[in-house]
Amino acid sequence: MSQHLKKVAILLSGRGSNFVALSDAIQEGKIPARIVLVFSNRPDAQGLEKARQRGYPTACIPPEGRGREPYDQLVAEALQEAGAEVICLAGYMRILSPVLVRAFPERILNIHPSLLPAFTGLRAQRQALEWGARVSGCTVHFVDEELDHGPIILQHPVPILEGDTEESLSERILVHEHEIYPQALRIVCQGKYRIQGRRVIVDQA
Ligand code: GAR
Repeated sequence: MSQHLKKVAILLSGRGSNFVALSDAIQEGKIPARIVLVFSNRPDAQGLEKARQRGYPTACIPPEGRGREPYDQLVAEALQEAGAEVICLAGYMRILSPVLVRAFPERILNIHPSLLPAFTGLRAQRQALEWGARVSGCTVHFVDEELDHGPIILQHPVPILEGDTEESLSERILVHEHEIYPQALRIVCQGKYRIQGRRVIVDQA
C-alpha cells in the first residue's frame, strides 16, 4: 500500500536554498510528502524561480498596501486552497500574525540560523559573532505566536572560528540547515512525534 503523502507548502522570501534541500529530499523519496505550493511575499525571490523551474505551483502576494492581519488572512486562504497540511518557512522574512499561526496550529515549521533561544530575529549569525559566542548553529522548530519561540524539533551546533565573518559562519551553518530541515520534515510527515509542552518527543522506533 502506498504511504500517505503529506501536502506541504513552502514559504520563502529569497534565495530558496532550504526549499531546494527539502524538494531534493522529497524527490529522492526520503520524506513522505508532496509540495503543493511555493509561496512568496516577494515577486523577485530567486526561490520562486527555482520552484517554477522544478514545475511546482507557485503564488506571490505582495504585502504593500495591506495590513499585517488582512495580508496573513489572504496567505492562509491561499495555503488552504492548495490543500496544504504542513507549512515550511524557508527564509520567509515576515513575522507571522496569529491569524496565520492559528489557521495551521502546530503545523508550521521554521528554520532559524542559531541555537534557539539564542539570537532570535534578523541576522542571527551576525548577532552570534558580535556576542562573542563560541558556538552557534541552526534550529528547526514549530511556529507559535511568539517570534522564533515554538517547540524545537532538531538543532545542530556549529563552532565559531577565529576570523569568522558573517558570510563564512552563515555558509557553515547553512550546510547543516540543509541536513536538519529535511530530517525534521520527515519526522513531522511520518507523524512520529508528539508535543508535550515545549518538548517535541520523537519516536525512536
Ligand atoms: C537561512 O539561513 C535561514 O535559516 C534564514 O534565512 C536563510 C534563508 O536562506 N532564516 C531566518 O533568518 C529566519 N529568521 P535560503 O533562502 O537560501 O533558504
